[in-house]
Amino acid sequence: MDEKLIQEINEKTPILDLVSEFVSLSKRGKNYMGLCPFHQEKTPSFSVSPEKNIAKCMSCGEGGSPINFYRKIKNISFEQACQELAIRAGIEVKATNVRKEPFEKEFKLMDEAANFYQFNLKHSEKGHEVLDYLNKREVSEKLTDHFRLGYAPPFGNTLYQLLKDKGYDTSDMIKLGVVKQSDDGSYYDLFSDRLIFPITDPRGNVVGFSGRSLNPKEAAKYINSPESVIFKKGSLLYHLFEASSVIRKSKQVILYEGFFDVISSFGAGIENGVASMGTALTKEHAKLIKNVTSSVIIAYDGDRAGLKASEQAISILEKEGLKIEVLTIPEKMDPDDFIKAYGAEKYENLFAEFLKDPYQFRYAYYKMGKDLQNANDIKTFKLNVIKMIDYADASIRQIYLKKLSEDLGIPIEDITSKKMDIPTRILPKPDKKSMIDRHTRAEYYLIFAMLRDKKHAKTIQKQLKRTDFADHVAASIRSKIIDYYEEHEVLLLDDLMDTLPLDERSFLEDIILNDWFWKMKIEMQDIEILDYAKLVKEASLKRRLQYLNEKIKLSGDHPKDKDLKERDLVLKELKHKPREV
Ligand code: CTP
Ligand code: MN
Repeated sequence: MDEKLIQEINEKTPILDLVSEFVSLSKRGKNYMGLCPFHQEKTPSFSVSPEKNIAKCMSCGEGGSPINFYRKIKNISFEQACQELAIRAGIEVKATNVRKEPFEKEFKLMDEAANFYQFNLKHSEKGHEVLDYLNKREVSEKLTDHFRLGYAPPFGNTLYQLLKDKGYDTSDMIKLGVVKQSDDGSYYDLFSDRLIFPITDPRGNVVGFSGRSLNPKEAAKYINSPESVIFKKGSLLYHLFEASSVIRKSKQVILYEGFFDVISSFGAGIENGVASMGTALTKEHAKLIKNVTSSVIIAYDGDRAGLKASEQAISILEKEGLKIEVLTIPEKMDPDDFIKAYGAEKYENLFAEFLKDPYQFRYAYYKMGKDLQNANDIKTFKLNVIKMIDYADASIRQIYLKKLSEDLGIPIEDITSKKMDIPTRILPKPDKKSMIDRHTRAEYYLIFAMLRDKKHAKTIQKQLKRTDFADHVAASIRSKIIDYYEEHEVLLLDDLMDTLPLDERSFLEDIILNDWFWKMKIEMQDIEILDYAKLVKEASLKRRLQYLNEKIKLSGDHPKDKDLKERDLVLKELKHKPREV
């Protein structure tokens, strides 16, 4: 794309019209204001200036020229945005300017297949039986069209024949999984006598299919296109492309388990639903969601499996910083069943009555079916709750400690003060938000141990020099703790805190004292301390080695003898030390 063309596209795209498609605006003087579509807010700070033909959020800074706005809001490339806007503005983009879609051929083939299935649903005898089935499930013609539902005929290779007649390569059909080759070398369609759901990528290309059998005796209720260059289930959400503008407007997405949930929900007027297609939610799914909104309602099935999947989804979505709510469907139904049984209005009411925040949901889920007189149940329940509130805001923690104390019939202090026999292997992984590596974490653990017990402090003093700590604040605290124990047998935290400069004090307050490990007063065994010390030592030696290597390299032909010797020593020591914790 050349500069001139870009400029022309920007000039010929009136920003007000463009933004209005995605944001409700109201006039303020010369400009228009609305709620920013790129971040969560309650008072409008997204400003559109028809005069300058730009739109920008005064609060988060997102937006810009028409092309930039469009690219961001549709989550597409700059090129793609230019092309789409050029078409809208009636600007001719010369073929040389148009970059070819990398999978254009594949997308076309899949689109052709989708049309074929759609046609067969509407214009074949067998298709009409499927329409009856859909009808019984209250899937109207409008819904059938919106979701491009189709029917794969039972004759074996009709799709293959059609695609071949249209000039598609058999190898592409096979690569994309719509056609398979049998042992005798002949080709047949993957989907046969099934209701077909086309699955689109976030840009609206059909990339795969799922086929539902209508025969209750058939073992595989659904079969899916195999993974291919364009079809990756772990990074696709059903109906995300089609719902994205509604999601942006409502600033919320509803995450379902199955196709029929999305479809029924849409029919009930709730159009911002997507589905993870029965697979476990992945980080990629969460990222896809994050591209369009920051708020998710999980509406999985109300059965045990659905609850479990919801719990897992929470932890994935939480890591991406999304706001999460969980809709628990009563009577173990799935959303589709519920809508059928009680109607759209009651379904909508559920969102007012049955939305739980992720803590409420998990607390209830962990407690469900537990016998709180049974030691094993108590332990599991307690551990789950404590893991859940690790890293939670202090007030949330307080609420759930109080609930635990009520449910278990013991004082709050006793929940956390007793030594808990939590095996180390189920300790929570270091939290991503703090982005610390395991070496740094090992340093923190060593500080915990030193704060707890003079004996540990002595061990660590023996094992590690001050300079072995990579974190200089931790290093300084290490020395201060050692000094403190010169005069005291037991460390009083407040006492020590009083002697520390501000940065060290806030280090202790923020990192150490907030840590789950510390809060739970977990006792560390000597062996663990030695392991952590080894890890820190190893990291320290590696840093030293890197420093020496660089120094030696820089000195060209005349490295210092002293450096070479030290490097040998470090290398030797590294050979003895490495040990994974
Ligand atoms: N699924 C799948 N393969 C299966 C079963 C399920 O890929 N063998 C996926 C489908 O995406 C399905 C979702 O998991 O939509 C949820 O499964 P299920 O609840 O069994 O399906 P529903 O969509 O509820 O279908 P129906 O209501 O027709 O039973
Ligand atoms: Mn169902």
